[in-house]
Amino acid sequence: MKILVTYWSQTGNTRKVAEAIFSSLGGEKTIKPFDEVENPGGFDLVFIGFPVMQFGPPAPARKFIAAHAPGRKIALFITHAMLMQNEDQQQQDLLEKELEKCRAVCSKSELVGLFHCQGELSEKIANELMASNIPMLMEFAGMRPLTIGHPDQGELERAQTFARNIAAPFAAP
Ligand SMILES: Cc1cc2nc3c(=O)[nH]c(=O)nc-3n(C[C@H](O)[C@H](O)[C@H](O)COP(=O)(O)O)c2cc1C
Repeated sequence: MKILVTYWSQTGNTRKVAEAIFSSLGGEKTIKPFDEVENPGGFDLVFIGFPVMQFGPPAPARKFIAAHAPGRKIALFITHAMLMQNEDQQQQDLLEKELEKCRAVCSKSELVGLFHCQGELSEKIANELMASNIPMLMEFAGMRPLTIGHPDQGELERAQTFARNIAAPFAAP
């Protein structure tokens, strides 16, 4: 079994999850950011990670998946600013919609699993959004305090359990 863990990460959160997943896997494995992957053809399973941006998968993820994932067994790992469980049903629905858009771009692949967790909204980005004077973006920036410190140790361990479970059927008998 050959496994590739690949990711795109602007502020480091998704990279942390990628590294946790990578360290939990046995066997023949490789970790690389999207832009260093030339051809994932020789891999039996590809873990693909990215952050949610503007309520869906960011352009680098769409591009990577369209170019390299069709016909392949893939598992997604995603970070986002939304709370995992939100009593506000609208917010909970918004997260579900974001994840659905991420699944949708994988329609030509065999999606064998999806992991997601919160990732800290960086101070720089939150300040930029606050300065935009656009109410929706300012409201989004106000979520930052709820995101600080994520992904935390528990989430990284959950990502590792996810990855081991996904990889188990691919392991040689
Ligand atoms: C420009 C920008 C747009 C974002 N848009 C969303 C969004 O629509 N929904 C969401 O849940 N999180 C959003 N986030 C938060 C990121 O998904 C989150 O902080 C993520 O963990 C960043 O991952 P990274 O450090 O790997 O880049 C956005 C962050 C940035 C910088």
